[in-house]
Amino acid sequence: MSTMTMPAGSPAATGGEAFLSVRDLYVRFSTEDGIVKAVDGLSFDVQRGRTLGIVGESGSGKSVTNLTILGMHNPATTTIGGEIVLDGQELTGASERQLQQLRGNKMAMIFQDPMTSLSPYYTVGRQIAEPFRKHTGATKRAAHERAVEMLAKVGIPQPAQRVHDYPHQFSGGMRQRVVIAMALVCNPDLIIADEPTTALDVTVQAQILDLLLEMQREFGSAIVLITHDLGVVANTADDLLVMYAGRAVERGTVEEVLRAPQHPYTWGLLGSMPSLTTDVSLPLTPIPGTPPSLLDPPTGCPFHPRCRFTEHVSGARCRTERPELPDGRGAACHLTPSQKAELYAEDVAPALGEEAVEAAADAERAADAEAVEDQVPGSTDSEENEQ
Ligand SMILES: Nc1ncnc2c1ncn2[C@@H]1O[C@H](COP(=O)(O)OP(=O)(O)OP(=O)(O)O)[C@@H](O)[C@H]1O
Ligand code: SF4
Ligand SMILES: [Mg+2]
Repeated sequence: MSTMTMPAGSPAATGGEAFLSVRDLYVRFSTEDGIVKAVDGLSFDVQRGRTLGIVGESGSGKSVTNLTILGMHNPATTTIGGEIVLDGQELTGASERQLQQLRGNKMAMIFQDPMTSLSPYYTVGRQIAEPFRKHTGATKRAAHERAVEMLAKVGIPQPAQRVHDYPHQFSGGMRQRVVIAMALVCNPDLIIADEPTTALDVTVQAQILDLLLEMQREFGSAIVLITHDLGVVANTADDLLVMYAGRAVERGTVEEVLRAPQHPYTWGLLGSMPSLTTDVSLPLTPIPGTPPSLLDPPTGCPFHPRCRFTEHVSGARCRTERPELPDGRGAACHLTPSQKAELYAEDVAPALGEEAVEAAADAERAADAEAVEDQVPGSTDSEENEQ
């Protein structure tokens, strides 16, 4: 079968040297109602200095994946399988002590609600200085100076005075800046930002994202950015992973996925949320149905109960056979590359606006050319669904 190839060095592709490498990750929770398969065979890579955006509807396993990387699940109710390797160190078998050492020092998380990370009882200065002292052994005075320096870096005016204030004395946007200062105080190599701007108004959102990228340039960190907003991804991330029902269904560079999306679920996301590729004058179209229960996920392709393209796939494959996500650029869907390009161009792109139609036409021409190249006498692989 032919797949589009990933540009060299693109870290969304699996394989190759990566700072963070997640392989075949499974996360299951034992609950009173049964086993929740929150993450189900997920693989991705992130490299230093690059940002991976992870998008997907509510409940698709984005936060669970990232909390698992940080080792923040209750081992009594959680079963974890697969591999998480951070800078050569395996994390799935690491002790709590090792993980604690890594958290803050090598990897840090920025949550949606700053008050999740900030204590109302301590000054912001103390909350920035403490992890710095803990991880570096710096003196109280040096840690205080570092806290002032970090507040200045994240754009808090009069940092030498504000360092003595409590979180409630800051606005929401300022608090998120403080959280970023806290997360970055030890120069972590990996920053996981889970909806870091969702609670903020649009102008503050842009400032916070700019700040994150600025910090990334300064510290060379790898960033995993979880968001519902494809517009945020388009402006901020280098690579994109689309998740559905605990699995990755599409990956590529942001440009590849937004210009020529290949998975019907990604098409649905693009049509249902305002983003840079959507013409604002066109109506949004919600994806029919709801995300599946992860207690009893659908057989075959987990998206099949909501997919309107199953009739283009021969037999009952969508219901019975789980499509795999190829390494590198691609989508976990039984449609052939030509079908994906054609259906997107004819059926989906017109509802997304002129820019999408033009990009889709280019992608369709490229897929057709590739299909011709792939025509080897006796090979029917690329025509599997078209008979
Ligand atoms: N501790 C837990 N015990 C049982 N189920 C859990 C637990 N944590 C998460 N889940 C379930 O795992 C699934 C994935 O949750 P997760 O929080 O990763 O979703 P998400 O993609 O981050 O969604 P959102 O966009 O709403 O934040 C959901 O069905 C959720 O209910
Ligand atoms: S495999 Fe079938 S059900 Fe799943 S996205 Fe592709 S066409 Fe739709
Ligand atoms: Mg979440």
